[in-house]
Amino acid sequence: MKKDSSTESWGKAEMSEELINLAQLSSHRTHFVMPFTFSQLGDVSGKSVLDLGCGEGEYSRELARRGAKVTAVDCSENLIKYCKLKMEEECLNINYYVRNSCELFGVSNNTFDLVLSSMMLMDCEDFEGTVKEIFRVLKPSGRLFASVCHPCFHRSGGIGRQDKGLDKKVVVSNYFNPTEWEAPLSSGTVNIIWRHRTIQDYVKTFIKCGLTITDVHEPIPTDDQARIDVDIAWLQKVPVYMFWELKK
Ligand SMILES: C[S@@+](CC[C@H](N)C(=O)[O-])C[C@H]1O[C@@H](n2cnc3c(N)ncnc32)[C@H](O)[C@@H]1O
Repeated sequence: MKKDSSTESWGKAEMSEELINLAQLSSHRTHFVMPFTFSQLGDVSGKSVLDLGCGEGEYSRELARRGAKVTAVDCSENLIKYCKLKMEEECLNINYYVRNSCELFGVSNNTFDLVLSSMMLMDCEDFEGTVKEIFRVLKPSGRLFASVCHPCFHRSGGIGRQDKGLDKKVVVSNYFNPTEWEAPLSSGTVNIIWRHRTIQDYVKTFIKCGLTITDVHEPIPTDDQARIDVDIAWLQKVPVYMFWELKK
């Protein structure tokens, strides 16, 4: 696998353990990002789908349960080992690769109806290389659905938080910097490299690599979702996530 700062950072054994634990505890992920993603993906039965940056693999397993032919890629060997164990426990059939997203060696051109990239495109070091690879492996008219930390509200040195609970505010001191920094996941302890890409970084790269933007979402939690906890309720005021839909 081609190594870079993102694969080194996310590939650490202690990081994979932490990601497995935190992913299962994250209410944003369980009650908001994941349900919204599946509501937008529609019927995936019979479709060939790539889960790029699959993490601990719940998206891939759910796609397989829904009848998709799934390939899943992550740069962390430990996460892929964990995904394979979970797949066997459930007798699912998923094809796994340990790869850098910018070099999907062994994956043929024009293979997938859908590439899902959940909360990964802001992390990879070589963003343009990654989008080029997505374009290469998508079938003609294939679809990319990607969630990212919202560029306007992502926590960084230049975009911080004030106050707590429903009164929490986003304070922007420098939208353009820093573009990368080290910090743990929220409630985590292991440092990873975080990256900030501006909205124009995303749009210009998608266009340069030949993809067409077909939709953008800044979803607002329903009142039922907001009752789950105050962190989700706050998302009714500030969109911490952004979802891109693109077509080859
Ligand atoms: C925030 S996690 C998201 C995991 C999963 N998609 C989810 O939504 O639960 C980001 C994932 O991207 C992977 N990742 C980061 N940089 C990568 C790269 N350059 N190539 C492949 N995977 C990468 C990490 O190992 C991690 O599993």
